Amino acid sequence: MQKVKILSATAAMFFVLTAGNIAFASAPSAFSKEMPEAAKEELATATEAKAAAEEKTTVEAEKPAEPSLYEQLGGEKAIDAAVDKFYEKVLADDRVNGFFKGVDMDRQRRMQKAFLTFAFGGPNAYAGRDLRAAHAHLVARGLNDTHFDIIVEHLGATLKEMGVKDELIAHAAKVANSVRNDILNK
Ligand code: HEM
Repeated sequence: MQKVKILSATAAMFFVLTAGNIAFASAPSAFSKEMPEAAKEELATATEAKAAAEEKTTVEAEKPAEPSLYEQLGGEKAIDAAVDKFYEKVLADDRVNGFFKGVDMDRQRRMQKAFLTFAFGGPNAYAGRDLRAAHAHLVARGLNDTHFDIIVEHLGATLKEMGVKDELIAHAAKVANSVRNDILNK
């Protein structure tokens, strides 16, 4: 039995080393009958890893990663300019500016820049509060869907004024809407 074991081990090594190659097809059938379970598993793992590696390469080669919304909008400078312009609009709008009374707007702009950078697929440097927690006291003061829609509208108008394409504005609105339930504590 010792001999068979050695043969099996050799066969297993052979299978693992040649998995996926043509030589695999010509492996002696007597060896494969003797192939222990562990070796079969090893073979399967080696084959899967190879297939996964090939698949990854193929996918990446065929479909290059799309630039993030952050990049498409123009990166850090564009986000900074957009947030400044956006808060000018928000603070000039009597339907929503009451919520910002007494708020440190320098910090607010910084937080919003970092959050949008992250939300639009840029580098994650957001160190602010969880959005649900940050807006809970505003919901208690009546913050609702109408206010949220106004904010999204101001974001869209800001991007439009900056010459951003409608398609990207729609994408940005979608990202903003993805946090609606958190902001409104739903
Ligand atoms: C797309 C939707 C929104 C996003 C992504 C957003 C994002 C943020 C972020 C990142 C902060 C800072 C959190 C922190 O202080 O650590 C914040 C705070 C705040 N947000 Fe929003 N917000 C949204 C909608 C709204 C709406 C609809 C209003 C009101 C009309 C609003 C009013 C405020 C106010 C007043 C603060 C400051 C709260 C405080 O410091 O007491 N936000 N928001």
